[in-house]
Amino acid sequence: MRVSMLCVLALLIYPTLAASSHSRLIVVAFDSFRYDFPHVFPGIVTPTFDKISQEGARVKGSRPVLMTNSWPNWLSLASGLWPESHQVVDNSFYDPEFDKWFNLAIRADPRYYDMGAEPIWITNQRQACSQRQAAGDQRHAGDQRQAGDQRQAGDQRQAAGDQRSGDCENPRSSGAVFYPGAEAPFSGMKADRFVTPYNELLDYRRRIDILMSWITDPVRPINLGMLYIDNPDHVAHEFGPESNQTRDMVELLDNLTATLFDKLQQEGLLDSTNILFIGDHGHAPGPDKLISANDYGVDSSMFESYSPRSHSTAQLYPKKEYEEFVYERLSTIPNITVYRKAEVPERYHYNNTRRMVSMVLIADEGFKLDIGPKSRTDVPQRASGRGSHQMDPFNDKAASIFWAYGPAFKQGFYRDEFIYHVDVYQLMCHLLELKPAPNNGTWAHVRDMLNVDPTSTLSTTTEGASAVLAHYWIFGLNLLVCLLALQHTHGDIY
Ligand SMILES: *[C@@H]1O[C@H](CO)[C@@H](O)[C@H](O)[C@H]1NC(C)=O
Ligand SMILES: *[C@@H]1O[C@H](CO)[C@@H](O)[C@H](O)[C@H]1NC(C)=O
Ligand SMILES: *[C@@H]1O[C@H](CO)[C@@H](O)[C@H](O)[C@H]1NC(C)=O
Ligand SMILES: *[C@@H]1O[C@H](CO)[C@@H](O)[C@H](O)[C@H]1NC(C)=O
Ligand SMILES: *[C@@H]1O[C@H](CO)[C@@H](O)[C@H](O)[C@H]1NC(C)=O
Repeated sequence: MRVSMLCVLALLIYPTLAASSHSRLIVVAFDSFRYDFPHVFPGIVTPTFDKISQEGARVKGSRPVLMTNSWPNWLSLASGLWPESHQVVDNSFYDPEFDKWFNLAIRADPRYYDMGAEPIWITNQRQACSQRQAAGDQRHAGDQRQAGDQRQAGDQRQAAGDQRSGDCENPRSSGAVFYPGAEAPFSGMKADRFVTPYNELLDYRRRIDILMSWITDPVRPINLGMLYIDNPDHVAHEFGPESNQTRDMVELLDNLTATLFDKLQQEGLLDSTNILFIGDHGHAPGPDKLISANDYGVDSSMFESYSPRSHSTAQLYPKKEYEEFVYERLSTIPNITVYRKAEVPERYHYNNTRRMVSMVLIADEGFKLDIGPKSRTDVPQRASGRGSHQMDPFNDKAASIFWAYGPAFKQGFYRDEFIYHVDVYQLMCHLLELKPAPNNGTWAHVRDMLNVDPTSTLSTTTEGASAVLAHYWIFGLNLLVCLLALQHTHGDIY
């Protein structure tokens, strides 16, 4: 009897010793941080960003998706999907099946976001209890994805879905300070921690404190933290992307980043945390040239009421009977490109969704199209913008930063090429040792910035795996001894 009690105790206590810590990732998301901001201003002082370029890994920048507004881009970064697949095709858009015009004011409606994307914070929580995975498997999965093996990708999602429960000893957990979308449900799941409602006035240092409190939480620490900072977007819009105010803001964000590094250092976590610095898009001066569609015989009465009035990149929603007319007239305007749904160039990956309804407008840098007043009280549009991010995603000024810092990355790595926002999700999965959901990333775009030195990332992974294996061995032996002992006791009784 005593033997069996001891056995039960040993088996009960054992799993608590098997708790392991998961890889930790922080994603710092700066709104409108153009890829070259740290270099365009003469005399700018950015010691922390310099440290990142010396000790971390960088590429030239990351290309955004259409439309070059915030919401589609934050979701492409987080999910690795092109807009036609995650279906948040702009900040505002029309969905013909729901017969509903969506905009930011009603983004709490789950149908705004939850149309097929699995953002990284959800992937992290779905696989809350999965064991560390060999890095080799990840690379393998990436190669298969590239080969277009959709069935395999589907199986991965299935496997991820099966590991939903977070009832293990040390589950993975995600937290987001204002990262757009983190407050929304995706297939019934939300980030474990998020701050809501959005408060633009919440001090940036306070945002870091909130993130740090989640990372160091003794009960359920997060292993993935997303930190959103709504600048340099505001200053770039107000004063221009190449203004002194934008320069000053970049210096302030450098100082803020130093604070994050200091706090991680104080907790002894800096050396074991991977940190990504991303932006949703870049910024260009203007637009200072307003083109009136009226001058070309087109007016607002030819459009559905939800068609936006004046933009540099947008979907236009002409009434069915005017579709051809509007297309033909707008096609004659210099510095404006319009594409019919069936003709959107493939590189935008934009038209294979019902939320792309009729036609796309892309203006040259510095230009904006006005379709005219939509009511009598409508104020005249002006072309006095100092800065805008609405432009062709293949314009370099549309690109954002992409910097990485931490043990998984080569020190001082730089590649003078752009990656794509859709490449980032697969990398985050790799860093967190997760099986990625099906996505549009290309592994070859990110592979070479990773530290493949066997003494760093890979050895950690192998150590993790063998530690788990050792635990199973000891647990198994323990069980065997118990069973033998029990059998012996039973023999005595009967
Ligand atoms: C911007 O800053 C530079 C250097 O501090 C200064 O020389 C210049 O006058 C400033 N420009 C404006 C428009 O304030
Ligand atoms: C950040 O700025 C504050 C003052 O605004 C300064 O005291 C501090 O030294 C700066 N930190 C870094 C790392 O630059
Ligand atoms: C505007 O269009 C003209 C004529 O097509 C072209 O020469 C010019 O480069 C365009 N401007 C921009 C900023 O692309
Ligand atoms: C999307 O555009 C491509 C041309 O780039 C075309 O081949 C395809 O049929 C279009 N898809 C839809 C759904 O219109
Ligand atoms: C992007 O990924 C999704 C999910 O796997 C897939 O359905 C879609 O076809 C992919 N798009 C492209 C252009 O490969």
